[in-house]
Amino acid sequence: MGVKETVKALSVIGLGEVYITRKVKSYPDKRQALRALFDSYKDCTKCDLHKSRRQVVFGDGNPDSPVVFVGEAPGEEEDIQGKPFVGRAGRYLNEQLKRIGMPRETVYITNVNKCRPPGNRKPNYIEMQACLPYLRKELSIINPKVICCLGATAAEGILGKKIQITKMRGQLFPYPYNPSIKVFLTFHPAFILRNMNAEDEFIEDLTKLKEIVKGGL
Ligand code: URA
Repeated sequence: MGVKETVKALSVIGLGEVYITRKVKSYPDKRQALRALFDSYKDCTKCDLHKSRRQVVFGDGNPDSPVVFVGEAPGEEEDIQGKPFVGRAGRYLNEQLKRIGMPRETVYITNVNKCRPPGNRKPNYIEMQACLPYLRKELSIINPKVICCLGATAAEGILGKKIQITKMRGQLFPYPYNPSIKVFLTFHPAFILRNMNAEDEFIEDLTKLKEIVKGGL
């Protein structure tokens, strides 16, 4: 029986979500592998976002970090500087990471989409599908313990299903491309800046994430 038939047969008996573990390649020199990956898509024209971007915004930070933060897409400041999360939301995220004792320079931060959508709109389905293979490769090189999705768009890109962030935040899910990696969901920092009443929950999530990363949960 082939993979497709096996998955279909398992879903008939109620095993709706099946994870197929691929052989996990390890990268002895993560920095070099990331550089080669970035070089391979710095001139990407796979979707229309290339027409309005200033530059492709690669992930940034410590590739040996046990946690990778994934956002939605670069905003204006990121498009100008060529680094993720360097605008207002990024400065707020840095503050909170410092506060919980996990400073930004110790972790790795990236986005689902590597090019800025015009007017900072949410990337559409086609744009996300065009960019996701780059993110998956980036994650396979880093091979973190936990992927922390910042907001529903990142979570939908990573988990491949519709997400209600208010219901699913603070929880762990298996990463479909390598179930030994856990996916943790929380709010996007830009959402918190617009809804300060959710700040306590955001800090609670980040504190829990730190415990998980330390191996305490
Ligand atoms: N919002 C994101 O999702 N990513 C960034 O890099 C900046 C803001």
